[in-house]
Amino acid sequence: MKLGLAGTGRIGASHAETLKGFDEVGEVVVADVDAERARATAAKLGVTAVESIDALFGAGLDGLVVTAATDAHPALITRAVDAGIPVFCEKPVAVDLTGTLAVIEHLTGSDVPVQIGFQRRFDAGYTAARAAVASGELGWLHTVRATTLDAGPPPAEYVPRSGGLFRDCGVHDFDIIRWVTGREVTEVYARGGNRGERFFVDAGDVDTGAATLTLDDGTLVTVSLSRYNGAGHDVRLEVLGSLANIVVGLDDRVPLRSAEPGVPALPGPVYPGFMERFRPAYTSELKTFLDVAARRAESPCGVLDALEAFYLAEACELSRRERRPVAVAEVRR
Ligand SMILES: NC(=O)c1ccc[n+]([C@@H]2O[C@H](COP(=O)([O-])OP(=O)(O)OC[C@H]3O[C@@H](n4cnc5c(N)ncnc54)[C@H](O)[C@@H]3O)[C@@H](O)[C@H]2O)c1
Repeated sequence: MKLGLAGTGRIGASHAETLKGFDEVGEVVVADVDAERARATAAKLGVTAVESIDALFGAGLDGLVVTAATDAHPALITRAVDAGIPVFCEKPVAVDLTGTLAVIEHLTGSDVPVQIGFQRRFDAGYTAARAAVASGELGWLHTVRATTLDAGPPPAEYVPRSGGLFRDCGVHDFDIIRWVTGREVTEVYARGGNRGERFFVDAGDVDTGAATLTLDDGTLVTVSLSRYNGAGHDVRLEVLGSLANIVVGLDDRVPLRSAEPGVPALPGPVYPGFMERFRPAYTSELKTFLDVAARRAESPCGVLDALEAFYLAEACELSRRERRPVAVAEVRR
C-alpha cells in the first residue's frame, strides 16, 4: 500500500515511522506546509517527501493519515474524501463545533472510510476496563475518575491552534468515558486554572481543568487535566463500582509517590509523554487503519463518535467560561 501523511510535527513523525514499519506498506509519502520540515522528517525516517500538499494528493495514495495542526483537519479530510482516499485523522475533527459539523455534513452520503485517532480505544488497559464494566463484575458504578496530566506544556505556538484544553486534551477522556461505560453524559460542570505560562491566557485557554460529569444512569465522573504535571505523564481511569474497582494506567511507570512510610517507590521510569505511554495503542490503531483503508474493516471510530466527544468538550468549555453547570443538550445541534 502507498500511504500519505500530512503534517510532520510531533505526532506526524511518530505515525510516519510506525507506518513505515508495517509489512503491508510499500511506501510512505509525507508533506507539510513547512516543506523543509517534511524533507527533514523524511530524510530521518527513510520515507519520501513531496514539496506540497497538492503533490501529496497527486501521489496515487491508498490512504491518507492527517497529523497536521487541528485547524487544518477539515480541509484535508474533505479533500481526501472527495478524491476517494480513505482517511485517518488525528483528533479532534476541527477546532470548533461549527467546523466539526461542516465536515460531517460534507461526508454525508459518502462511502469513503474515515477513522478518527482516539488511540485509547486500542489500549489494553482501557479495553480491559470496558470488558469489566460490560461483564457486570464491577456491579453498578458509583464513580469514574479520568486523569490526563501532561508532564509539560506543548510549544506556545501549538496552543492557539489547538481548540483549548478541553477540546484538545479532555476530548480523549470524554471519548473513552463513553466507550468504557457505554453511557452518555447528560450534564457537566467545569472549571479552569491558569497558574502556568502566560501564552495559555493570551490564547483564551487554561493550563489546568477539572470537570464533573453526570452519566445518564446517575454515575458521577470527575475529569482532571493539566499541562504542568512535572512528575511525569499520568493518564489513568479509575472505574469504581458497587462490587469491585478497576484502574487503567496504574503500573510501574505512573508518576506517583506514596506518602506512607515504608511503601516502596515504583520502579519507573515514569512516562515522559504520550508517545511512550501510548506507543502500542498508536501502532494498533494505525494497523487497523490499513484494514479500514483496504475496506477489510469498518472504521472503529468515525466522525459521529468524534462529534459526541466534542459535544462534551464544548459543554465543558461553555461551563468553565460561564461558571455554571451545562446540560449537554444545550450544546447539541
Ligand atoms: N492522539 C494523540 O494522542 C495526539 C497527540 C498529539 C497530537 N495529536 C493531534 O495531532 C495533531 C498534530 O499535533 P502535533 O502535536 O503533532 O502538532 P505539531 O505542531 O507538532 O505539528 C503540526 C504540523 O502540521 C503542519 N501543518 C499545519 N497546517 C498544515 C496543513 N494545512 N497541511 C499540512 N501540514 C500542516 C505544521 O507545519 C506542523 O508541522 C493535532 O490535531 C493534535 O490534536 C494527537
